[in-house]
Amino acid sequence: MENIRIELTSAPKAKPNIDPLPFGKYFSDHMFLMNYEEGKGWFDPRIVPYGPFSLDPSCMVFHYAQEIFEGLKAYRRADGSIWLFRPADNFRRMNDSARRMCIPEVDVDFCVEALKKLVAIERDWVPTQEAASLYIRPFIIATDCTVGVHASKTYIFCIILSPSGNYYPEGLDPVKIAIEDEDVRAVRGGTGFTKCGGNYAASIRAGERAAGRGYSQVLWLDGVHRKYIEEVGSMNIMFKIDGTVVTPVLQGSVLPGITRRSILEVCRDWGLSVEERLISVDEVIETAENGHMEEMWGTGTAAVVSPVGQIEYEGKSLKIGGGGIGELTQKLYDELTGIQWGTRPDTRGWTVKVCD
Ligand code: COI
Repeated sequence: MENIRIELTSAPKAKPNIDPLPFGKYFSDHMFLMNYEEGKGWFDPRIVPYGPFSLDPSCMVFHYAQEIFEGLKAYRRADGSIWLFRPADNFRRMNDSARRMCIPEVDVDFCVEALKKLVAIERDWVPTQEAASLYIRPFIIATDCTVGVHASKTYIFCIILSPSGNYYPEGLDPVKIAIEDEDVRAVRGGTGFTKCGGNYAASIRAGERAAGRGYSQVLWLDGVHRKYIEEVGSMNIMFKIDGTVVTPVLQGSVLPGITRRSILEVCRDWGLSVEERLISVDEVIETAENGHMEEMWGTGTAAVVSPVGQIEYEGKSLKIGGGGIGELTQKLYDELTGIQWGTRPDTRGWTVKVCD
C-alpha cells in the first residue's frame, strides 16, 4: 500500500465545550479516506480535512445499501497518552462483513496504522471528561453510478472521529428494554452477523415504537421461531441466571461483538460459569419472575457494559434484580473500562498505544 498522504485543515473547528458530551454529534477536523477500483485495489490513502462527499445520485449505496461499518474508541489516560482497544479485531470483523456484502476486504495492519496516524493527528479531540472517549467510525460505501443490482466495482473507505459521551443518556443507570415480537432484525443466512447499515435500518421502526412507550431499546427475538433471544441492536445481551453468565450463541444472526468476546473472556478468567446457548424468551420471563434472573446487561463498543433494569414483553413489564445495577455488571464495567483507561492491568494485550 502507498504512503498515506496528509493534508491538514487551515480552518480547525472549535471543540465542543459540553459536559456530558452527547454521543456521535460532533466530528473532528480530519478524516481518513481511500478509494477502490476493480483491478487496481485500494489506492490513494489520505488524511484530509473533514468534509462532505460529492456523490452522484445514482451511486449504488443510496439505492441498494451496499455498505458496512465499524465502531471502536480511543481513550485518553490520566497521563495524557491515547490508546485504542483491540483495533485489529474491528478491521478483521469489517472483512467478515465485507465478504458477506461482496465488498473488497481491507488490509487489517494497514488500517490499524492509518487509524493510529489519524488519531495521533486528532489527539486534541480525544475528550478529557470522565467516561467520554473518541468514537471511531470506519465505513465502506459502494460508489458505482448505476441502478442495476450487482456488486459495485468502486468503493470509498472512510474513517471519521466523534468525541462522545455515553451512548445511553442513562449512563450507568439501568436501561429499560422492550422485547420485540412483531418486527424481526435478522435471520440466519442473512446479514445479521455483519455491521451493515441495513440491519440498523430494519430496526428503526420497532425502536421508535418502544421509545414511544418509554423504552430505550428493543431486544430482538430470532426471525424463525420468534422465540429465542438474539441481541439489542446497539449491544449484545447477557444474563446472570443462578450464578451462570448466559448469552445467546452466535449462529449467524447476531453480531459477534468485540466487547461481548472480551467480557466472556474476563468472566471465564474469573472462574465464572459461562454458557453461550439458545435462550428462549419464556426462560427470560420465567427466571425474571421467579427471581433466578439475577442480572441482565448489554455489551457493546458504544454501550460499554450497560445494566438492564426493566424489560417489557407482551404488554407486561418486569424488573430485573430489583431494577438497580447488579454486582457482577458493575464489576465487569469497572474491569473493562479499567483496562481501556489503563487503571487496571491489560494482561491480554488488548490495548494499543497511539501516542503520549
Ligand atoms: C457500536 O457499539 O460501536 C455500534 O456500532 C453500535 C451503534 C448502534 C452505535
